[in-house]
Amino acid sequence: MGRPTWVEVDLTAVRSNLRALRAFVGEGVGVIAVVKADAYGHGAVPVARCLEETGADALAVAILEEALELRRAGIGLPILILNGFWPGEEAEIIRRDLTPAVYDEGMVVRLALEARRLKTPARYAVKIDTGMTRLGIPFEQAGEVVRRCLDREWVRCQGLYTHFSSADEPSRPATRRQIGRFSRVLAELPSGKAAGFRNHMANSAGILGFREAWCDAVRPGLMLYGINPLSRPAPLTLSSALSFKTSIVQIKTVKAGAEVGYGGDYVVSRSTRIGILPVGYADGVNRLLAPSGKVLLRGRRIPFAGRISMDLTAVDIGSAPEAGVGDEVCLIGRQGSEEITVGEFAAACSTIPYEALCRIGPRVPRIYR
Ligand SMILES: Cc1ncc(COP(=O)(O)O)c(C=O)c1O
Repeated sequence: MGRPTWVEVDLTAVRSNLRALRAFVGEGVGVIAVVKADAYGHGAVPVARCLEETGADALAVAILEEALELRRAGIGLPILILNGFWPGEEAEIIRRDLTPAVYDEGMVVRLALEARRLKTPARYAVKIDTGMTRLGIPFEQAGEVVRRCLDREWVRCQGLYTHFSSADEPSRPATRRQIGRFSRVLAELPSGKAAGFRNHMANSAGILGFREAWCDAVRPGLMLYGINPLSRPAPLTLSSALSFKTSIVQIKTVKAGAEVGYGGDYVVSRSTRIGILPVGYADGVNRLLAPSGKVLLRGRRIPFAGRISMDLTAVDIGSAPEAGVGDEVCLIGRQGSEEITVGEFAAACSTIPYEALCRIGPRVPRIYR
Protein backbone atom coordinates (compact mmCIF):
# COMPACT_ATOMS: atom_id res chain seq x y z
CA MET A 1 0.00 0.00 0.00
CA GLY A 2 1.06 3.61 -0.40
CA ARG A 3 3.46 5.15 -2.87
CA PRO A 4 5.07 2.43 -4.97
CA THR A 5 8.64 3.53 -4.28
CA TRP A 6 10.71 1.43 -1.93
CA VAL A 7 14.08 -0.02 -1.00
CA GLU A 8 14.46 -3.76 -0.60
CA VAL A 9 17.18 -4.88 1.78
CA ASP A 10 18.31 -8.47 1.53
CA LEU A 11 19.50 -9.33 5.04
CA THR A 12 20.60 -12.74 3.81
CA ALA A 13 23.17 -10.90 1.70
CA VAL A 14 24.40 -8.91 4.74
CA ARG A 15 24.67 -12.17 6.68
CA SER A 16 26.58 -13.95 3.94
CA ASN A 17 28.92 -10.96 3.49
CA LEU A 18 29.77 -11.01 7.21
CA ARG A 19 30.37 -14.77 7.07
CA ALA A 20 32.56 -14.41 3.98
CA LEU A 21 34.56 -11.69 5.75
CA ARG A 22 34.98 -13.86 8.87
CA ALA A 23 36.23 -16.74 6.76
CA PHE A 24 38.62 -14.34 4.98
CA VAL A 25 40.21 -12.76 8.09
CA GLY A 26 39.97 -15.83 10.35
CA GLU A 27 38.54 -16.25 13.83
CA GLY A 28 41.35 -14.40 15.59
CA VAL A 29 40.41 -11.03 14.09
CA GLY A 30 37.41 -9.19 15.58
CA VAL A 31 34.79 -7.59 13.34
CA ILE A 32 33.51 -4.13 14.23
CA ALA A 33 30.67 -3.65 11.76
CA VAL A 34 30.10 -0.05 10.66
CA VAL A 35 26.40 0.82 10.74
CA LYS A 36 26.61 4.62 10.83
CA ALA A 37 24.33 6.77 8.66
CA ASP A 38 21.43 4.36 9.13
CA ALA A 39 23.67 1.46 8.09
CA TYR A 40 24.61 3.28 4.88
CA GLY A 41 20.90 3.78 4.16
CA HIS A 42 19.99 0.11 4.69
CA GLY A 43 18.31 0.73 8.08
CA ALA A 44 20.46 0.67 11.22
CA VAL A 45 18.29 -1.41 13.54
CA PRO A 46 17.41 -4.36 11.26
CA VAL A 47 20.96 -4.49 9.91
CA ALA A 48 22.50 -4.27 13.41
CA ARG A 49 20.18 -7.05 14.65
CA CYS A 50 21.16 -9.22 11.71
CA LEU A 51 24.88 -8.56 12.33
CA GLU A 52 24.49 -9.26 16.04
CA GLU A 53 22.76 -12.58 15.33
CA THR A 54 25.43 -13.47 12.75
CA GLY A 55 28.27 -12.90 15.19
CA ALA A 56 29.73 -9.41 14.70
CA ASP A 57 31.88 -8.53 17.72
CA ALA A 58 30.94 -4.85 17.90
CA LEU A 59 29.25 -2.08 15.93
CA ALA A 60 30.46 1.38 14.98
CA VAL A 61 28.34 4.49 14.48
CA ALA A 62 29.28 8.13 13.94
CA ILE A 63 27.36 9.93 16.68
CA LEU A 64 25.66 9.35 20.02
CA GLU A 65 22.12 9.55 18.60
CA GLU A 66 22.87 6.60 16.31
CA ALA A 67 24.19 4.56 19.23
CA LEU A 68 21.11 5.37 21.33
CA GLU A 69 18.80 4.21 18.54
CA LEU A 70 20.54 0.83 18.61
CA ARG A 71 20.49 0.54 22.41
CA ARG A 72 16.77 1.45 22.49
CA ALA A 73 16.15 -1.34 19.99
CA GLY A 74 17.80 -3.76 22.41
CA ILE A 75 21.17 -4.16 20.66
CA GLY A 76 23.62 -5.27 23.33
CA LEU A 77 26.90 -5.42 21.35
CA PRO A 78 29.71 -3.01 22.23
CA ILE A 79 29.20 0.19 20.22
CA LEU A 80 32.07 2.43 19.13
CA ILE A 81 31.16 6.07 18.45
CA LEU A 82 33.61 7.09 15.74
CA ASN A 83 33.15 10.85 16.02
CA GLY A 84 33.53 10.90 19.81
CA PHE A 85 31.18 13.00 21.89
CA TRP A 86 30.34 16.57 22.75
CA PRO A 87 30.30 18.21 26.19
CA GLY A 88 27.15 17.15 28.01
CA GLU A 89 26.96 13.69 26.39
CA GLU A 90 29.27 11.96 28.90
CA ALA A 91 26.58 10.69 31.29
CA GLU A 92 24.49 9.11 28.53
CA ILE A 93 27.57 7.45 27.07
CA ILE A 94 28.45 5.90 30.42
CA ARG A 95 24.90 4.85 31.30
CA ARG A 96 24.42 3.18 27.91
CA ASP A 97 27.83 1.50 28.07
CA LEU A 98 29.08 3.06 24.82
CA THR A 99 32.69 3.48 23.68
CA PRO A 100 33.36 6.92 22.21
CA ALA A 101 36.47 7.76 20.25
CA VAL A 102 38.63 10.34 22.00
CA TYR A 103 41.01 12.56 20.12
CA ASP A 104 42.42 14.74 22.90
CA GLU A 105 43.26 14.29 26.54
CA GLY A 106 40.53 16.67 27.69
CA MET A 107 37.89 14.23 26.47
CA VAL A 108 39.31 11.50 28.70
CA VAL A 109 39.37 13.93 31.63
CA ARG A 110 35.68 14.80 31.07
CA LEU A 111 34.72 11.13 30.84
CA ALA A 112 36.67 10.34 34.01
CA LEU A 113 34.98 13.13 35.98
CA GLU A 114 31.51 11.97 34.95
CA ALA A 115 32.39 8.33 35.55
CA ARG A 116 33.51 9.14 39.09
CA ARG A 117 30.29 11.08 39.72
CA LEU A 118 28.20 8.14 38.44
CA LYS A 119 30.47 5.60 40.13
CA THR A 120 30.59 3.66 36.85
CA PRO A 121 33.81 3.30 34.82
CA ALA A 122 33.71 4.77 31.30
CA ARG A 123 35.14 3.16 28.18
CA TYR A 124 36.89 4.94 25.34
CA ALA A 125 38.96 4.20 22.23
CA VAL A 126 41.77 6.48 21.08
CA LYS A 127 41.63 7.72 17.51
CA ILE A 128 45.09 8.29 16.05
CA ASP A 129 45.69 10.45 12.99
CA THR A 130 48.39 8.62 11.04
CA GLY A 131 48.29 10.84 7.98
CA MET A 132 44.73 11.47 6.88
CA THR A 133 44.76 14.79 8.73
CA ARG A 134 41.22 14.36 9.87
CA LEU A 135 39.97 13.46 13.37
CA GLY A 136 42.56 11.98 15.75
CA ILE A 137 45.59 12.62 17.91
CA PRO A 138 48.56 13.28 15.60
CA PHE A 139 50.71 10.14 15.57
CA GLU A 140 53.82 12.06 16.68
CA GLN A 141 52.16 12.97 20.00
CA ALA A 142 49.97 9.91 20.43
CA GLY A 143 52.29 7.69 22.52
CA GLU A 144 52.79 10.36 25.16
CA VAL A 145 49.11 11.44 25.30
CA VAL A 146 47.88 7.84 25.51
CA ARG A 147 50.33 7.00 28.30
CA ARG A 148 48.95 9.90 30.36
CA CYS A 149 45.34 8.82 29.63
CA LEU A 150 46.09 5.28 30.76
CA ASP A 151 47.06 6.57 34.21
CA ARG A 152 43.61 8.04 34.86
CA GLU A 153 41.11 6.40 37.16
CA TRP A 154 37.50 5.64 36.28
CA VAL A 155 38.22 5.28 32.55
CA ARG A 156 39.16 2.13 30.60
CA CYS A 157 40.88 2.37 27.23
CA GLN A 158 39.54 -0.33 24.89
CA GLY A 159 42.21 0.16 22.26
CA LEU A 160 43.64 2.47 19.62
CA TYR A 161 42.54 2.87 16.04
CA THR A 162 43.29 4.83 12.90
CA HIS A 163 41.57 5.32 9.56
CA PHE A 164 43.04 5.03 6.06
CA SER A 165 42.77 7.81 3.52
CA SER A 166 43.52 5.82 0.37
CA ALA A 167 43.25 2.07 0.95
CA ASP A 168 41.14 1.80 -2.20
CA GLU A 169 44.22 2.93 -4.17
CA PRO A 170 46.72 0.28 -3.08
CA SER A 171 49.42 1.48 -5.47
CA ARG A 172 49.77 4.73 -3.50
CA PRO A 173 52.25 4.66 -0.61
CA ALA A 174 49.84 6.32 1.86
CA THR A 175 48.35 3.17 3.43
CA ARG A 176 51.71 1.50 4.08
CA ARG A 177 52.92 4.76 5.62
CA GLN A 178 49.84 4.88 7.86
CA ILE A 179 50.27 1.24 8.91
CA GLY A 180 53.91 1.93 9.80
CA ARG A 181 53.04 4.98 11.89
CA PHE A 182 50.24 3.19 13.72
CA SER A 183 52.49 0.21 14.49
CA ARG A 184 55.12 2.56 15.92
CA VAL A 185 52.53 4.20 18.20
CA LEU A 186 51.45 0.75 19.43
CA ALA A 187 55.06 -0.20 20.10
CA GLU A 188 55.41 2.84 22.38
CA LEU A 189 52.60 1.74 24.70
CA PRO A 190 53.41 0.29 28.12
CA SER A 191 52.76 -3.41 27.47
CA GLY A 192 51.16 -4.14 30.85
CA LYS A 193 48.59 -1.38 30.52
CA ALA A 194 47.84 -2.12 26.89
CA ALA A 195 47.12 -5.81 27.52
CA GLY A 196 43.63 -6.70 26.32
CA PHE A 197 43.42 -3.73 23.94
CA ARG A 198 41.63 -4.29 20.66
CA ASN A 199 43.48 -2.12 18.16
CA HIS A 200 42.25 -1.67 14.61
CA MET A 201 42.91 0.10 11.34
CA ALA A 202 41.25 -1.44 8.32
CA ASN A 203 38.08 -0.33 6.53
CA SER A 204 36.78 -2.54 3.70
CA ALA A 205 39.48 -1.58 1.21
CA GLY A 206 42.15 -1.99 3.90
CA ILE A 207 40.82 -5.45 4.76
CA LEU A 208 40.81 -6.60 1.14
CA GLY A 209 44.10 -5.04 0.12
CA PHE A 210 46.37 -5.03 3.19
CA ARG A 211 46.72 -8.21 5.23
CA GLU A 212 49.17 -6.41 7.51
CA ALA A 213 46.42 -3.94 8.53
CA TRP A 214 44.13 -6.51 10.14
CA CYS A 215 45.55 -6.04 13.67
CA ASP A 216 43.19 -7.26 16.47
CA ALA A 217 40.04 -6.26 14.61
CA VAL A 218 38.77 -4.79 11.33
CA ARG A 219 36.12 -2.13 10.70
CA PRO A 220 34.17 -2.98 7.54
CA GLY A 221 31.26 -0.94 6.27
CA LEU A 222 30.81 -1.02 2.51
CA MET A 223 31.70 -4.68 2.01
CA LEU A 224 29.04 -5.81 4.50
CA TYR A 225 26.50 -4.23 2.17
CA GLY A 226 27.96 -6.20 -0.71
CA ILE A 227 29.99 -3.50 -2.39
CA ASN A 228 33.58 -4.06 -3.44
CA PRO A 229 35.58 -0.85 -2.83
CA LEU A 230 38.45 -1.96 -5.07
CA SER A 231 38.68 -1.42 -8.79
CA ARG A 232 39.66 -5.10 -9.23
CA PRO A 233 37.61 -8.18 -8.30
CA ALA A 234 37.32 -8.79 -4.54
CA PRO A 235 39.11 -11.87 -3.17
CA LEU A 236 35.83 -13.10 -1.63
CA THR A 237 32.20 -13.29 -2.73
CA LEU A 238 30.10 -10.25 -1.84
CA SER A 239 26.35 -10.01 -2.46
CA SER A 240 24.72 -6.67 -2.96
CA ALA A 241 22.08 -6.10 -0.25
CA LEU A 242 20.07 -3.14 -1.53
CA SER A 243 17.67 -2.57 -4.41
CA PHE A 244 15.91 0.75 -5.02
CA LYS A 245 12.62 0.36 -6.86
CA THR A 246 9.57 2.23 -8.02
CA SER A 247 6.69 1.68 -10.49
CA ILE A 248 5.21 3.44 -13.49
CA VAL A 249 2.16 5.41 -12.33
CA GLN A 250 1.18 7.03 -15.66
CA ILE A 251 2.06 6.64 -19.33
CA LYS A 252 1.83 9.42 -21.94
CA THR A 253 1.98 8.78 -25.65
CA VAL A 254 3.65 11.85 -27.16
CA LYS A 255 4.44 13.10 -30.63
CA ALA A 256 7.76 14.37 -31.98
CA GLY A 257 8.38 17.87 -30.64
CA ALA A 258 6.82 17.27 -27.18
CA GLU A 259 8.87 18.78 -24.35
CA VAL A 260 9.24 16.80 -21.13
CA GLY A 261 9.81 18.14 -17.62
CA TYR A 262 11.19 21.38 -16.15
CA GLY A 263 12.82 23.61 -18.72
CA GLY A 264 11.46 21.37 -21.48
CA ASP A 265 14.97 20.40 -22.39
CA TYR A 266 14.05 16.82 -23.35
CA VAL A 267 12.45 17.29 -26.74
CA VAL A 268 10.96 14.12 -28.17
CA SER A 269 12.43 13.38 -31.60
CA ARG A 270 9.95 10.67 -32.63
CA SER A 271 6.59 9.53 -31.33
CA THR A 272 7.21 7.64 -28.08
CA ARG A 273 5.76 6.80 -24.69
CA ILE A 274 6.83 8.57 -21.51
CA GLY A 275 6.52 6.73 -18.19
CA ILE A 276 6.07 8.75 -15.01
CA LEU A 277 7.76 7.47 -11.83
CA PRO A 278 6.76 8.62 -8.31
CA VAL A 279 10.33 9.24 -7.14
CA GLY A 280 12.65 12.22 -7.28
CA TYR A 281 15.67 13.92 -5.86
CA ALA A 282 13.98 14.24 -2.46
CA ASP A 283 14.24 10.45 -2.35
CA GLY A 284 17.90 10.32 -3.35
CA VAL A 285 17.58 10.20 -7.13
CA ASN A 286 20.23 12.80 -7.87
CA ARG A 287 19.43 15.30 -10.65
CA LEU A 288 22.80 14.50 -12.22
CA LEU A 289 21.53 11.01 -13.12
CA ALA A 290 19.69 12.53 -16.06
CA PRO A 291 20.33 12.47 -18.92
CA SER A 292 23.09 9.83 -18.96
CA GLY A 293 21.85 7.38 -16.27
CA LYS A 294 19.48 4.50 -16.88
CA VAL A 295 16.75 2.58 -15.05
CA LEU A 296 15.66 -1.02 -15.62
CA LEU A 297 12.21 -1.79 -16.98
CA ARG A 298 11.17 -5.22 -18.24
CA GLY A 299 14.82 -6.26 -18.00
CA ARG A 300 15.96 -3.47 -20.32
CA ARG A 301 17.98 -0.27 -19.80
CA ILE A 302 15.73 2.77 -20.22
CA PRO A 303 16.84 6.43 -20.40
CA PHE A 304 15.55 9.33 -18.34
CA ALA A 305 13.39 11.86 -20.16
CA GLY A 306 14.21 15.39 -19.01
CA ARG A 307 15.20 16.67 -15.61
CA ILE A 308 14.57 14.73 -12.42
CA SER A 309 12.25 16.72 -10.17
CA MET A 310 11.73 16.64 -6.43
CA ASP A 311 9.13 13.87 -6.32
CA LEU A 312 8.65 12.75 -9.94
CA THR A 313 10.81 11.45 -12.74
CA ALA A 314 10.01 10.74 -16.40
CA VAL A 315 11.57 7.96 -18.46
CA ASP A 316 11.37 7.34 -22.20
CA ILE A 317 9.84 3.86 -22.50
CA GLY A 318 9.67 3.85 -26.30
CA SER A 319 11.92 0.77 -26.37
CA ALA A 320 9.55 -1.20 -24.09
CA PRO A 321 6.23 -1.14 -25.97
CA GLU A 322 4.78 -3.90 -23.80
CA ALA A 323 5.34 -1.92 -20.55
CA GLY A 324 2.27 -0.72 -18.66
CA VAL A 325 1.18 1.25 -15.62
CA GLY A 326 2.20 -0.63 -12.45
CA ASP A 327 5.36 -2.13 -13.97
CA GLU A 328 8.30 -2.27 -11.59
CA VAL A 329 11.27 -0.02 -12.37
CA CYS A 330 14.70 -0.58 -10.85
CA LEU A 331 16.92 2.40 -10.06
CA ILE A 332 19.43 0.14 -8.30
CA GLY A 333 19.18 -3.63 -8.53
CA ARG A 334 18.62 -6.47 -10.92
CA GLN A 335 15.92 -7.33 -13.47
CA GLY A 336 16.48 -10.49 -15.45
CA SER A 337 20.04 -10.51 -16.70
CA GLU A 338 20.52 -6.74 -16.34
CA GLU A 339 21.80 -5.06 -13.19
CA ILE A 340 22.34 -1.46 -12.16
CA THR A 341 24.84 -1.67 -9.32
CA VAL A 342 25.21 0.94 -6.60
CA GLY A 343 28.55 1.72 -8.24
CA GLU A 344 26.94 2.41 -11.62
CA PHE A 345 24.13 4.47 -10.05
CA ALA A 346 26.69 6.50 -8.06
CA ALA A 347 29.06 7.02 -11.00
CA ALA A 348 26.19 8.21 -13.21
CA CYS A 349 25.60 11.07 -10.78
CA SER A 350 29.29 11.80 -10.22
CA THR A 351 29.48 10.46 -6.71
CA ILE A 352 30.59 7.39 -4.76
CA PRO A 353 28.51 4.44 -3.50
CA TYR A 354 28.72 5.72 0.10
CA GLU A 355 27.02 9.01 -0.73
CA ALA A 356 24.49 7.51 -3.14
CA LEU A 357 23.36 5.03 -0.46
CA CYS A 358 23.18 7.57 2.39
CA ARG A 359 21.12 9.89 0.25
CA ILE A 360 18.24 7.50 -0.30
CA GLY A 361 15.83 9.53 1.77
CA PRO A 362 13.93 8.62 4.92
CA ARG A 363 10.57 8.78 3.14
CA VAL A 364 11.50 5.73 1.07
CA PRO A 365 10.32 2.70 3.10
CA ARG A 366 12.85 -0.10 3.61
CA ILE A 367 11.47 -3.58 3.14
CA TYR A 368 13.47 -6.49 4.58
CA ARG A 369 13.87 -9.96 3.18
C1 LIG B 1 36.44 5.57 10.86
C2 LIG B 1 35.81 4.65 9.89
N1 LIG B 1 36.07 3.34 9.95
C3 LIG B 1 35.53 2.45 9.08
C4 LIG B 1 34.68 2.87 8.09
C5 LIG B 1 34.12 1.87 7.12
O1 LIG B 1 34.63 2.11 5.86
P1 LIG B 1 34.19 1.22 4.58
O2 LIG B 1 32.74 1.49 4.40
O3 LIG B 1 35.01 1.75 3.48
O4 LIG B 1 34.47 -0.19 4.93
C6 LIG B 1 34.39 4.23 7.96
C7 LIG B 1 33.52 4.70 6.87
O5 LIG B 1 33.55 5.77 6.38
C8 LIG B 1 34.97 5.14 8.89
O6 LIG B 1 34.72 6.46 8.81
